[in-house]
Amino acid sequence: MSDSSDLPVLHAPRSVLVTGGAGFIGSNFLRYAVPRMTEARFVNLDLVTYAGRPENTAHLAETGRYSFVRGDIADPDLVRALFDQHGFTTVVHFAAESHVDRSIMDPMEFVRTNVLGTTVLLDSARKAWRRDDGSFGDVRFHHVSTDEVFGALGPEGLFRASTPYDPRSPYAASKAGSDHLVRAYAHTYGLPVVLSNSSNNYGPFQFPEKLIPLVIRNILRRDPVPVYGKGLNVRDWLFVEDHCSAIERILTRAADRATYLVSGGEERTNIELVHTLIELVDAELDRSPGASRDLIQFVTDRPGHDFRYALDGSPLSNDLGWRPSRDLKQGLRDTVAWYLEHREWLEKADDDRFRSYYQRQYQGR
Ligand code: NAD
Ligand code: TYD
Repeated sequence: MSDSSDLPVLHAPRSVLVTGGAGFIGSNFLRYAVPRMTEARFVNLDLVTYAGRPENTAHLAETGRYSFVRGDIADPDLVRALFDQHGFTTVVHFAAESHVDRSIMDPMEFVRTNVLGTTVLLDSARKAWRRDDGSFGDVRFHHVSTDEVFGALGPEGLFRASTPYDPRSPYAASKAGSDHLVRAYAHTYGLPVVLSNSSNNYGPFQFPEKLIPLVIRNILRRDPVPVYGKGLNVRDWLFVEDHCSAIERILTRAADRATYLVSGGEERTNIELVHTLIELVDAELDRSPGASRDLIQFVTDRPGHDFRYALDGSPLSNDLGWRPSRDLKQGLRDTVAWYLEHREWLEKADDDRFRSYYQRQYQGR
């Protein structure tokens, strides 16, 4: 990654509310940011839904600058009390219902957490920024969002920050709603905000409902590896730690109200990706090359399945000098190695709740 030392610091976090820090990207962000941002204290607010694992970051308490609160971002009394207690200068907002397939089954929780929950946070941030006595606090709200708000691409082209919104799944629509509310709070009340919309993340601590950890889990268990449709849909893959470094860069150096797209620049069809994972896992397990290929099972496609996502990451690289540190091959190697070394983490996810989701999701497809 390139150096950011020549870029002016536009926001210096001192007291940081991280929401959703027990989830995949939030855990990785805390593990990345707490040791580096030594001037800042961190509070992790997370409801610990099926996707939350506070133990991912429990060791950070040893720094004396990290604490965990189990609670709901959509609870205005709790959020207000936390703002009063900690005097947050900074919100990095990850908490969300994040899985497209679950949003197709049960959209309501997506609207509650992603739209209502975001608004509750914005409202407390607004009051911390413009105080009752008319004075202004030093506050910045970083909203972590997704490329899925822009809809789907054909074989050509890239999403840009200026691309009109066209969300297609309940998940994408709820994230689009939250993005609009963040910009509305900036426009109407002047709340200082920045936004980032990233491509598909992968890496350690990702819940095994998502494609990459699900494929690794199923190869290990010798279960069928479900590929939707013909496996020709395309995603742009970003290693999670690179996403975290991009968030830190945008949070501290981007201009007020900026939106940056964060891209791994690594487009693959799902079937290509699954073949690579099979190669890597088989090699690690000393199985003969491609031995697990017969696990691939093409299943009924996801309803409304977006064909392709791809992002123009050049403004983030030109303005803020950010580039990903790992290519996909290296990132997948590291990811496979991590899951194989942490099988107990994967197994813990395999509880009754997950099994009943899994059955509902894949049975009869
Ligand atoms: P995740 O599902 O792994 O984690 C979400 C976390 O939010 C969990 O710990 C969960 O307990 C918590 N949470 C859910 N509802 C809550 C509520 N009401 N109150 C408090 N906490 C709550 O998700 P993730 O993959 O880490 O995604 C984090 C953010 O990044 C989301 O906003 C998502 O939209 C965005 N994003 C994800 C990706 C990706 O590829 N995973 C890509 C782009 C953007
Ligand atoms: P996913 O990890 O759910 O992320 P998103 O839907 O947010 O992009 O899925 C990534 C791609 O993999 C997507 O095109 C759907 C596909 N997919 C499968 O083919 N099989 C699966 O079992 C899953 C979970 C996803």
